[in-house]
Amino acid sequence: MKTIFSGIQPSGTITLGNYIGAMMQFVELQKEYNCYFCIVDQHAITSPQDRLALRKNTKSLAAMYAAVGIDPAHSTLFIQSEVHAHAQAGWMLQCIAYIGELERMTQFKDKSAGKEGVSAGLLTYPPLMAADILLYQTDLVPVGEDQKQHLELTRDLAERFNKRFNDIFTIPEVRIPKVGARIMSLQDPLKKMSKSDPNQKSYISMLDEPGQIIKKIKSAVTDSEGIVRYDKTKKPGVSNLLSIYSILSGNSVDQIEAMYDGKGYGDFKSDLANVVVEHIKPIQDRYHSLIDSKELDDILDEGAVRANQVASKMVSKMEKAMGLGRKR
Ligand code: TYM
Repeated sequence: MKTIFSGIQPSGTITLGNYIGAMMQFVELQKEYNCYFCIVDQHAITSPQDRLALRKNTKSLAAMYAAVGIDPAHSTLFIQSEVHAHAQAGWMLQCIAYIGELERMTQFKDKSAGKEGVSAGLLTYPPLMAADILLYQTDLVPVGEDQKQHLELTRDLAERFNKRFNDIFTIPEVRIPKVGARIMSLQDPLKKMSKSDPNQKSYISMLDEPGQIIKKIKSAVTDSEGIVRYDKTKKPGVSNLLSIYSILSGNSVDQIEAMYDGKGYGDFKSDLANVVVEHIKPIQDRYHSLIDSKELDDILDEGAVRANQVASKMVSKMEKAMGLGRKR
């Protein structure tokens, strides 16, 4: 059976973008693959985090993974910092990564632009992400489009390691969904929807109340044409809403366009708000029943044990290949 690895940062609330771009793929793929899904808290600290908020967000993300349908019987769900091999492997991969290639990462450029006191961790983040993936001999990495460049670097680092030391790593493939790989901000449809956006109206949180969801969708930026039609370049706002509608309802974009022929954005938006609320409601119910449960802690304990078994073996192989420690 082939292996999947993917991770999400517990750096804030989980957005509809994370759900559509990443989590929906995870649920679909977990039946056919041996899956590892990670809460990457060590990635989150590359930007300043409040200690208590980080703990809370870590637990919350774990509950959300389970609530959307990640089944711990099929998949290993765990917290990155509870498996020390990630940081160990991350260091080894940092030592074969070049500063130049890390500085070229668009996410580093975006997150560091105009800021003072940028952490070194923000620059060396991609080798840690490569470690996450490579420790499990991952075949496939389901992610949203924004992670594509990091995946290319992961492949480069794996190939470099294999060539320079010993051929131990599987070279992973990226999997980006055809629709929904980049859900855009509701307030600025040229920017991706992001949990770190200071404007809360720009994203839908998976934990938003129905009233908040309705308000946010009603105030989503569209255009003055008044026709529900998909055109990413000329109508980025409406096209983004159409993508969300299509993915969550299962109707094609063509079908939705036909449904709103002759109608304005008001009807379209209020129906879309209903679709989102109806889709999220059962997920929220499961989330609330899990968040303070012993069941969730048991899932994470079990996940850490399983992940540790696999990752610690791989880290030993890496150390051996690089000549670290004594010969055993
Ligand atoms: P993160 O936490 O920013 O996002 C988690 C996942 O959600 C996807 N995503 C989106 N998809 C569609 N539209 C959006 N607006 C949107 N925003 C986010 C992301 O592409 C991602 O799949 N570096 C990663 C975390 C990571 C990781 C890994 C991923 C660490 N190690 C190993 C895969 C494998 C990140 O910051 O994702």
